[in-house]
Amino acid sequence: MAITFEQLQAQLDEKPSVHLEVLDLAVTYKTVKGSFHAVDNISFEVAPGSNLGLVGESGCGKSTVVKALMRLTPEDAALSGRVLVNGADLIAMNAEQLQKVRWTQIALVTQSAMNSLDPVVRVGDQIVESIRAHVGTSYATAWKRAEALFAMVGLPAARLREYPHQFSGGMRQRTVIAMALSLNAGLLLADEPTTALDPIMQDQVLARIQALQKSLHRSMILVTHDIAVVAETCEMVAVMYAGRIVEYGPTATVLTKPLHPYTMGLENAFPRMPSGDGVRPPLISIRGGLPNLLSPPKGCRFAQRCPFATERCTTEDPIIDIKASSHVAACHYPSRAEEFRRKAAEAETWNAMEGIT
Ligand SMILES: Nc1ncnc2c1ncn2[C@@H]1O[C@H](COP(=O)(O)OP(=O)(O)O)[C@@H](O)[C@H]1O
Ligand code: SF4
Ligand SMILES: [Mg+2]
Repeated sequence: MAITFEQLQAQLDEKPSVHLEVLDLAVTYKTVKGSFHAVDNISFEVAPGSNLGLVGESGCGKSTVVKALMRLTPEDAALSGRVLVNGADLIAMNAEQLQKVRWTQIALVTQSAMNSLDPVVRVGDQIVESIRAHVGTSYATAWKRAEALFAMVGLPAARLREYPHQFSGGMRQRTVIAMALSLNAGLLLADEPTTALDPIMQDQVLARIQALQKSLHRSMILVTHDIAVVAETCEMVAVMYAGRIVEYGPTATVLTKPLHPYTMGLENAFPRMPSGDGVRPPLISIRGGLPNLLSPPKGCRFAQRCPFATERCTTEDPIIDIKASSHVAACHYPSRAEEFRRKAAEAETWNAMEGIT
């Protein structure tokens, strides 16, 4: 039976929060050169109402993780491990069970989603359709919801009557964000959701998403290569490197007192506030690139680029044991972190990694 707009809003507001537990997740892609684990040994948790930032350089497996959490990896990719959504294992679900979870409990917004808008259907109708595919409500009620969603992402309601080609890239991206928010899912996966927007609009849209998520006790995994965005948005952060989480912890602690040399290097590559003497620290990049996962190196995957690597690092794989709000890293030398941080702040430390291109 059709419901009123107020009933629809109430129904969406009352939806349960999501508690996500990821246990030993691995994704194997098949390529012509062979199979490789794009991500492996991934375990973490997102508590109801909290935000987790997922950072790391391009190709480290961030999108693969979020796609796996929606079971949207390509068909020939193998998934293993467990993804528990309020206790139910998504990896073990059949198509029918999945349909009840996707978009209603977990929603995904990606940068490429804006290209998936149907060019011959008015934007408003596309939002209405996506709402009505999951909730029994009239066209008029769903349209009202679309208007509310457009207001949320800062677009005028009148533009719901237009077609995607009449929209700028930024407007299309805000449209797919509105769609991802349309069913008020307990967990929002946002994979570089605002990269097509200018910085001011990025901040506005993220702030709106965040306020909404907080007020309704929703959680979010925010994938970005921008550490500053994570600092503003997420309580917890996971740093990925070569298919693994290498550091995890409360964002403020990870950013001020990183334990993993990769995180230290990643921070150096970002513009930071000037220190007390008004001098802005130099931008230093980590030399080299990600290892080839078709034949991953023995030991620590960062060893080749790490200025602090020892012989142990090239033979023994450092493990990481992520628990709730702990601060942990996959490095053999957590007790030397302070020394590493001091040295990592100097360009010479990284420049000394000669021979790595
Ligand atoms: N469908 C696919 N088939 C084969 N390899 C893939 C596929 N999608 C991604 N990859 C590879 O998996 C690795 C991780 O990619 P991705 O998860 O997109 O990283 P990120 O989002 O951090 O940039 C990369 O080496 C990428 O080339
Ligand atoms: S385990 Fe060794 S190579 Fe890896 S990050 Fe720590 S010091 Fe560097
Ligand atoms: Mg990606």
